Amino acid sequence: MTIHIGAEKGDIAETVLMPGDPYRAKWAAETFLQEVRLVNEVRGMLGYTGTWNGNPVTIQGSGMGMPSLSIYANELIRDFGAKTLIRIGSCGGMQKSVAVRDVILAMTATTAGSPSASIFKEVNFAPCADWSLLKAAAEAAGQRDVATHVGGIYSSDTFYDERPDLNEQMVRHGILGVEMEAAELYTLAARYGCRALAVLTVSDHLLTGEALPSDQRERSFGDMVEIALEAAFS
Ligand code: HPA
Repeated sequence: MTIHIGAEKGDIAETVLMPGDPYRAKWAAETFLQEVRLVNEVRGMLGYTGTWNGNPVTIQGSGMGMPSLSIYANELIRDFGAKTLIRIGSCGGMQKSVAVRDVILAMTATTAGSPSASIFKEVNFAPCADWSLLKAAAEAAGQRDVATHVGGIYSSDTFYDERPDLNEQMVRHGILGVEMEAAELYTLAARYGCRALAVLTVSDHLLTGEALPSDQRERSFGDMVEIALEAAFS
């Protein structure tokens, strides 16, 4: 057990999917895994372990934002031995070529300041996805009927942005979407020799103002979970 994860050591699999929303962890575990059991409910941040095609998998909520994700990812990696961590979450679309419901595989994650920023001082570290996971996810997505984009995303610290000029610069530099967690996950994976990827569903669009209706979210999020699972075990 750790401060934030009430599981026993053997309760967490080496492969962990991390949605921001703990209820999405419950839904994904109950929908896609077999032999599912609840392994964490500290602070309501639900975590489940089960199997997918016989492979052990944990689906653990990360909460919203890099400080929250950093707590769970640190404990999963350092205390529970997680080796492959895949964020499954939503993002806001930032390019005209990206539509609501599309999937984005985040090759890089630009950030203005993750919890790790103080380590790097004047250096701009470039958080990037694990190549083997990214390649496998792109192949898995190619087998499905879902438009998929591979490229850079922006991990922001704010949802209600007081600095719209930052988003404008991201759009100008070809960033595909904005979310709030991946850059810290990629940085921790680099530090501890793990594999990480963010598979994201576009839930809203910053340029068009369009948003995915709640009744259509489940189907779109399902594609993302299956792409993540197929990539993890390819
Ligand atoms: N901004 C930040 N994070 C998000 C967004 C957004 O528009 N949509 C989904 N996650």
